Amino acid sequence: MKVLVVGSGGRDHAIAWSFARSDRVDQVYVAHGNAGIGLTATCVNARTIEEIAAFAAAEKIDLTFVGPEKPLSAGIVDLFERRGLAIVGPNLAASRLESSKCDTKLLLRELGVPVPEFEVFSDPDRARDYVRSVGYPVVVKADGLAAGKGSLVCDEVKDAATAIQEIMEARVFGDAGRRVDIEKRLYGRELSFFCFTDGHSIVPMVAAQDYKRELDQDQGKNTGGMGSYSPHPWLTDQLVEIIMRRVAQPVINGLRERHGIVYRGILYLGLMLVDEADGMVPYVLEINIRLGDPEAQVILPRLKTDLVDICEAILSGRLEDFHLDWEPDYRLCLIAVSGRTKSKKGWYKGYPARYKIKVPIVGLDDVDPECLVFHSGTDWDPDGALITTGGRVFGIVARGATLQAAREQAYTEMAKVSFEGMRTRGDIGRD
Ligand code: GLY
Repeated sequence: MKVLVVGSGGRDHAIAWSFARSDRVDQVYVAHGNAGIGLTATCVNARTIEEIAAFAAAEKIDLTFVGPEKPLSAGIVDLFERRGLAIVGPNLAASRLESSKCDTKLLLRELGVPVPEFEVFSDPDRARDYVRSVGYPVVVKADGLAAGKGSLVCDEVKDAATAIQEIMEARVFGDAGRRVDIEKRLYGRELSFFCFTDGHSIVPMVAAQDYKRELDQDQGKNTGGMGSYSPHPWLTDQLVEIIMRRVAQPVINGLRERHGIVYRGILYLGLMLVDEADGMVPYVLEINIRLGDPEAQVILPRLKTDLVDICEAILSGRLEDFHLDWEPDYRLCLIAVSGRTKSKKGWYKGYPARYKIKVPIVGLDDVDPECLVFHSGTDWDPDGALITTGGRVFGIVARGATLQAAREQAYTEMAKVSFEGMRTRGDIGRD
């Protein structure tokens, strides 16, 4: 069969790699891909959802799988369904779970799902009054899509006032900042929890630890993710049961029963686990409608079940009793990003702030073939040299019987690669 993956990042490379492993798949296409994805699959220069649907129809694609949130939030699933094309992912109505943090928090409160104390504001003055009145550390979140950078953690009232100014008045995230969700900052253990769902049944995946902050010891700004590993040491069967009962099931059932939305695809719960007097409480920090990046780079290599079989079960509503097989070994992903570099006009601070692109990358061919290399922001220059095109450039995924072994190999292999300004966090997997 022919499979089309929509996306161009490291997660999408991992999805394409996973389909390429399937005995049932003859050809994997990716719209629009990157240099590394082109080594795994056939990249297609289709960018808009209309161009992608036209390609899928013309090429008679059997199954399309969407990696990132943007095409989902632009209604790619509704468009494919109208044209009778098989596609896995939530539809436009369901995609609001990611494209509006404010509406999602209000929905979760309505459904009785644990959320931090929060309020929603469209008036910056009222938002500032609120942070002054509560006085505790908060997280100020832009309502809309902001590539993982729209949540600003504020320990002081003055930091929160600055965040409100930047998001709502300076509009550093554009229209995503028309409203903000201001939440009480929680302290606990962050966990990215993923499920497959057909809108009725929900099958949990293994969990992953993500590292969102740019610097070691969780300092600096939020990024899309600087590294990840799986399995997650905290995720016991008992905790899975709690998350399913208190979060995943109420969300999927509530959407269907109260709002008529059948959510099909991947549900990504960004949780803060807080140990309280009556046990561990999984507070929802955010919901996403897709696999995480770089969590997918460590989860999919552990998946032994054929991804095509899973997709077919989602589309035909047969996920009930579906069993997933996983490899027990650890996988650890270390992301190389475009760091500080000098430009003609001064210094670029580097990802997640401004960074230089079109910088040659050397050494990837020397990485141990036992490791996986998933590309995020790469391209070929006219002379055939590999160059950077993004903030996150590539990830190296190592495998080990222990987290320590996977960590050591990822750092050893990363040391073989270089580009101007290349930077990694030094503490991925050092928990
Ligand atoms: N790693 C966080 C995300 O994918 O949103």
